[in-house]
Amino acid sequence: MATTGQSAPHVKARRDKPAEYPERFPVPDHLVGWESAYPAYDPPYYVSPVVLENDSSRNPAGWADPEQLSPADAPQESLCGALRHDERGRALNSAGRTGLAGRGLLGKWGPNYAADPIITRINRRENRLELLAIQRRDNGQWAIPGGMVDRGELVTRTLARELVEETGVSLDMERARFIYQGYVDDPRNTDHAWMETTAKHLHLDPDMAEQLEPRAGSDARAVRWLPLTAETIASLYASHCVLVKKALELLCQGGRTGMSEADRQLVQALLHVV
Ligand code: BGC
Repeated sequence: MATTGQSAPHVKARRDKPAEYPERFPVPDHLVGWESAYPAYDPPYYVSPVVLENDSSRNPAGWADPEQLSPADAPQESLCGALRHDERGRALNSAGRTGLAGRGLLGKWGPNYAADPIITRINRRENRLELLAIQRRDNGQWAIPGGMVDRGELVTRTLARELVEETGVSLDMERARFIYQGYVDDPRNTDHAWMETTAKHLHLDPDMAEQLEPRAGSDARAVRWLPLTAETIASLYASHCVLVKKALELLCQGGRTGMSEADRQLVQALLHVV
């Protein structure tokens, strides 16, 4: 199982934030880890009204935990392993300080689980590699069509469900290749609520991909086969750049993809510039 999946400390979770969040308390690189003493650390507390409205103990259709969570109900572990807790029994971000206390826009205390279906193809006409991507409604950025794992749902099911909901494309994600499982450096993360994901990759046969008819659904403003270039990969949402790069590296290593040598070279050329 992966740890934080990153060798450097998280960046977006300290530097970026959704507009409605207060400013984050500064956290220098060497003070990210909870094991480093930071006596002056005094992050503002923020929980979005949307999260409070969706308290599942008061609203049967809600997707969020109650604001008061008893320490006995606090998560003890996540995909990253055993969790630390603060003096009030709240689970602490497995990647360290973020400069913000509370849950922000995330519903669950502790890890909030997502699943990311990475779908790629070679566009024969343009001779380029493309990613099935959505434009997120919340911030307009291009992203993998992922989403949140429902309570008790198997991740493979989430991968296929989110793909259909966001792009209208139905694929068997059971045969997708495992890419990553663990922490995500996401701008919504806080000290007490953060994103963790499971990503799997399917590289489609060009003719089969040609027959799919993607259409934007639920959380997507638009959907398209996004040409993968150094620029488009770097500007993907949250940690999606890292996930896509890892998928391409594994694709190049071959195995059961049945890729031609020419296609492999195309992917390899891209990996040299990202
Ligand atoms: C997105 C996933 C993403 C996760 C963490 C979720 O809202 O749907 O694609 O990996 O957040 O950033």
